[in-house]
Amino acid sequence: MSKLFIAGEVFHGAGSLDELKNIKGKKAVIVTGGSSMRKNGTLDKAVAYLHEAGIETQIFEGVEEDPSSATCLKGAEVMNTFQPDWIIGLGGCSAIDAAKIMWVFYEYPEVEFDALIKPFTVPVLRNKAKFIAIPSTSGTGTETTGLAVITDREKGVKYPVVSYELTPDIAIIDGEICASMPAHVTSNTGLDALTHCVEAYVSNIDNNIADALSKGGLEIVFDNLKEAVENPNNIQARQNMHDASFMAGLAFNNAWLGIVHSLSHQVGALYGIPHGASNAIFLPNVIRYNALATERYPELAKVIGRETTEELAQAIETLRSEVNNPSAIKDFGISKEDWDKNLDYIAANALADPCTGFNPRVPVLEELKAIYNACYEGAVYAEEVVAG
Ligand SMILES: [Fe+2]
Repeated sequence: MSKLFIAGEVFHGAGSLDELKNIKGKKAVIVTGGSSMRKNGTLDKAVAYLHEAGIETQIFEGVEEDPSSATCLKGAEVMNTFQPDWIIGLGGCSAIDAAKIMWVFYEYPEVEFDALIKPFTVPVLRNKAKFIAIPSTSGTGTETTGLAVITDREKGVKYPVVSYELTPDIAIIDGEICASMPAHVTSNTGLDALTHCVEAYVSNIDNNIADALSKGGLEIVFDNLKEAVENPNNIQARQNMHDASFMAGLAFNNAWLGIVHSLSHQVGALYGIPHGASNAIFLPNVIRYNALATERYPELAKVIGRETTEELAQAIETLRSEVNNPSAIKDFGISKEDWDKNLDYIAANALADPCTGFNPRVPVLEELKAIYNACYEGAVYAEEVVAG
């Protein structure tokens, strides 16, 4: 028996933000990021809908990219004073992920962040509040996942906090909110969604439901990402990408991810490389590396009109360049000297990352270093690199 983990209620489609009018409750804290949700009017609209529902609101603004546990503690303080019965994460995945951990700290003020790092250790939530996720980017699928990525800057480590407790009660997937998303964020997040589809499909706990969502999501990304990047006001393309991101999130919430994410978490924490951008660099080479352990890539290749594992890897490389994304880690201004100095550290952390356990091929440290080095240079990974 398997249980499907999914957001409690899912509203999707252009304009679905107005579902906030129908929420039952008394008080909501809206957690958001920099200023984009205020600037494009979404924050004001959300507040107005909640007021229409008779809900008092408080706003916690300014969640940074790659949020820290310190930010989550600050948000929890606001919640402790205001005592909301709804917490609403509105914006990019940073805002929503931070809101999830604020929620944990609000419900359990005595909990230390370090106690949450071990997978499935978040205590039972919903004693004080329930959670609504309204994403403004189309990538992480955090609106339907039990995942929140929090960064420890001192250690240079990104921690995926994993617990089905964190799966939102309500997800609102409104493509209109995405129209103001800049091109580079559209491409980075879209490539993250693509990576979720591929990693969930070949996960060692794959299942029929996640498989269908992965294939469907992959097809939508290939059909719509370039259009969403080039024509940001095409709301249909925006909604399609938003739906794909949700489908990919739902797939990986039930099949999990692999070493693309393990590798990516480290370069994100240490060098600040955007998550989707590093995923898109690692993914083709991880496909080549994993090819020895799974025969499932050609099935995915067929979804986008290709045949072989290598053709899938190359199609991803082509899409990556069509949306103007870098093909090498060194393109982010990281010197070879610095890279070599940190390689052992990031490879060891990648090996220990929770996502590594779901990869179809069990890696050893030297293999991860070889993939890292090929991707640093933007070279094609070849098995001989490790063997020889
Ligand atoms: Fe991701």
